[in-house]
This record gives sequence, C-alpha cells and structure tokens, in this order.
Amino acid sequence: MDDLRDKYLTAIRNAADEGTLEEVRLAAIGKKGEVALMMRELGRMTPEERKTAGPALNALRDEIASALAARKHGLEDAALDERLASEWLDVSLPARTRRRGTIHPVSQVTEEVTAIFADMGFGVAEGPQIETDWYNFDALNIPGHHPARAEMDTFYMARADGDDRPPHVLRTHTSPVQIRAMQDRGAPIRVICPGRVYRADYDQTHTPMFHQVEGLALDRDISMANLKWCLEEFCRAFFELDDLELRFRASHFPFTEPSAEVDIRCSWEGGTLKLGQGDDWLEILGSGMVHPKVLRAGGIDPDAWQGFAFGMGIDRIAMLKYGIPDLRAFFDSDLRWLRHYGFGALQVPARHAG
Ligand code: PHE
Repeated sequence: MDDLRDKYLTAIRNAADEGTLEEVRLAAIGKKGEVALMMRELGRMTPEERKTAGPALNALRDEIASALAARKHGLEDAALDERLASEWLDVSLPARTRRRGTIHPVSQVTEEVTAIFADMGFGVAEGPQIETDWYNFDALNIPGHHPARAEMDTFYMARADGDDRPPHVLRTHTSPVQIRAMQDRGAPIRVICPGRVYRADYDQTHTPMFHQVEGLALDRDISMANLKWCLEEFCRAFFELDDLELRFRASHFPFTEPSAEVDIRCSWEGGTLKLGQGDDWLEILGSGMVHPKVLRAGGIDPDAWQGFAFGMGIDRIAMLKYGIPDLRAFFDSDLRWLRHYGFGALQVPARHAG
C-alpha cells in the first residue's frame, strides 16, 4: 500500500496538464484502477485482516482523491497566471493620434441645443424617420389636398402591388414627433425633438436628408410671449451673443395659429456674415401657437391646454455658428472636412451662460 501511495502521489505531483492528471486518476482510483482492484481482494481476506486493510484502503483512496483535486486547482491557477501574464493591455497608453476621430458638427450642435433647452426644462423626445402620412401630415392639419404636401417634396415609400393604403413617407419635418410626444406624455409637456428629416432637394443649402429640432411647450396659459422669450434666450445662448436681435415675422403653417418665422439680424458686409449687427435678416426657424386641431390629434383638450411649437434646421444653425459655407459637404464623409470642422471628443458643448 505504501508503494502504491508513493507511486501515485509522485505521478500526481509530476502531472503537467489536466489530461495526464485524468489518466493518473483512472489508473489509481478509477473503477478498474489499482486501488479498486485491491478493494476487491478484501473479500478473500479473513475478517481480522479486513478490519485493518479496509479502512487503510479507504484512507488511501481519499488521500489520492484529495491530492488529485489539489493538483487540479494548482494546474488551473497556473494556467490562469499564464494567461494573465501574456494577455494584458495598458489602458493608460495614449491613443494613436493619426487615428483620432472628430465629433461631427451636427452631433456637436445637437448636444449644444439639447443642453440649452435642458436648462429651460425641456426633455428630449424621438420618433421614427419612416412615418405614416397621418403623423406627418393629417395630424398636423395638412389634409390630402393641401399644397404643403407637394411643396415639401416628400419621399414616398413603395407599397406592394394592389395595396391601396396610403404609402408611408420619409418624414419631411420633425413635427410628427409633436403628435407622438403628446400621445405618449400628455400635457403639460416641454420637449425638443432632434432628428433626421428628408426632402427631395439638392443644392448648396439643401440636401435630401438634413436635421431639424422641434420644440413643443404646452401648459394652461403658455402664450406667444413665452415663445418669444424662449427663442431669444436660446439664440443668445447658442450663438454666444448677448445682444443678438430677433425679428418675429407673421407667417403661415397649417399646424400653428398664429404663426411666425424668426429672423436674426446680420450683416454681409465685405462678403462675410456677421450675426447681431447690420441691416440684413436671416431666417432661422418657423414657429407659432399649436393649432387646436393638432392638440386634438395628439389627444389633448384644446379648451384646457395651449402652447407653442417651433422647428429649426440643425445643419443651418451649425453653418451659421461655425461659418460652414456648403451644406452638401456635411454628408460627404470627406476626412479633411471632418478634421477641419469637427470637434474634439472632450470638447464640452458651449452652455447657456445664465
Ligand atoms: N415643421 C416646420 C417646417 O419644417 C417648422 C415648424 C415647426 C413651424 C413647428 C412651426 C411650428 O418648416
């Protein structure tokens, strides 16, 4: 028995991997292992012999079993140590500068707009880019025959042959998110809705996909005065000009009544654009008091609630703020343009100072 013990404990100590260890286990304490064979011989012994040999064999089997378990853990630990030593990554190494990316001006400006309106208590809402014509038009008081549908150069999605339901559209503005936000959240509400919109149009200031941000504020007694204050506050914070002057010009949108387009004072003297001074005006957004029919489409009682909405081009205000001349370049993925107009990943958006 002592020979067996020495033989197997040495074999266990020398086993270099788990496969070898398993072979040792089978040879020693497996069903047909040496210890099992010896146990079988117990039957041929006298009761006296059995009394000492039985417990001794059991003890030997246990000793081998626990030596096997200990070695197994040892091998596992060693394997782990080896992996830890070979598989490592120095997370404090600097990034390779040649591969540093930049934040796209649209992302940067979306963050800036969101931060400024967040300071005024606005949350963010989103909606799908593929809309039903109900959300994009009807719910916004633009019925089927309305010229605005044609004016918006809408992209229509194809329907299967024989399916005569009205086609889905690529949303032409972020205004359908007004309806979805009212349905989801009810009133009172204060949200902005930034996102992609689509119109079939292409020149220096138009691309078939561009970005808008919608604003919606409903409460018991929100008026045009709140709209004016809010947009003035936003523009001064966004363009970082305390004396920026806005002009509210009467206009028409089917989903607001009354409606106003908003221009900012600027000058083009010497061929460069300067905001906040001069005798010219630059249109930057559409706005107005939400039409009662639109409130009703959003499930809100127009006799109890009222408020304002506005829609603004994100790319457009990015061009104005950062002096970017051509909108088409926004979506060309030209690395030189992205490096020139892009922002550092850690460049914190300009915040509303007040
Ligand atoms: N949806 C309008 C557009 O795309 C902008 C707008 C939004 C006007 C909300 C008034 C109120 O031109």
